[in-house]
Amino acid sequence: MKLSLQALASLKGKQRIAMLTAYNCPVARSLEQAGIPVILVGDSVGMVEMGFASTRDVTMEHMLYHVAAVRRGAPNTHIIGDLPHLSYESPTQAVENAKKLIAAGADSVKLEGPYFDAIEHICAAGIEVVAHTGLTPQKATSFKKVGRDAQEAEQILLDSIKLQNAGAGMLVVEHIPAELGAKITAELNIPTIGIGAGAQTDGQVLVINDALGIGDYWPPFSKQYAQMSDRILEVANQYKNEVEAKTFPE
Ligand code: KIV
Repeated sequence: MKLSLQALASLKGKQRIAMLTAYNCPVARSLEQAGIPVILVGDSVGMVEMGFASTRDVTMEHMLYHVAAVRRGAPNTHIIGDLPHLSYESPTQAVENAKKLIAAGADSVKLEGPYFDAIEHICAAGIEVVAHTGLTPQKATSFKKVGRDAQEAEQILLDSIKLQNAGAGMLVVEHIPAELGAKITAELNIPTIGIGAGAQTDGQVLVINDALGIGDYWPPFSKQYAQMSDRILEVANQYKNEVEAKTFPE
């Protein structure tokens, strides 16, 4: 059964939330079959699937294509669609683009950083919003952990409270110290979903390619549950050998 963001929020303190990203139909289908309650179609697609060096190259057109594909694979799972870089610079633009992601198949939208007005306007348009703080790759100049000094940690905590007050129904906290992840989680009524934010957040999110071991670089806080790049290499080698040796087709 598809859960709203509000229903997912009611799990806070009762059940941890396991979120994964997906970008295509067959992977989304497997995640739904596994009972993953919420799928994020993240703009990480630009880096892990499209070969860009940054998520800043991802456009609304890219996101609409991937959200629609994931929806076809997971018709009964809550899907969060990421608003890409520069797609929510004004509240009007934010609402317009949020509506497009919803029309493509998303149930809620996510945006990065302290865009309180944009969040208020999207919520006023009847669309649920996931906020994202800590490391925010669309604007970051490095992928280093943030919130390590007291002043930066305090700012991230204050922003988190303001994001909740603006109407966000869930908060992704990325690459911050575990103690800060725990503090934000204790302070907020909405669920926090951590990625590199320690073990005390209300849920976790992993980029699916990192979890599957697809690619050649994975962030230190991710976990590889499989090594799919190695397996693809083995399959491609075996297939090539069999075609050249005329053993396939038999
Ligand atoms: O784009 C994405 O996949 C994300 C996650 C890293 C949280 O924003």
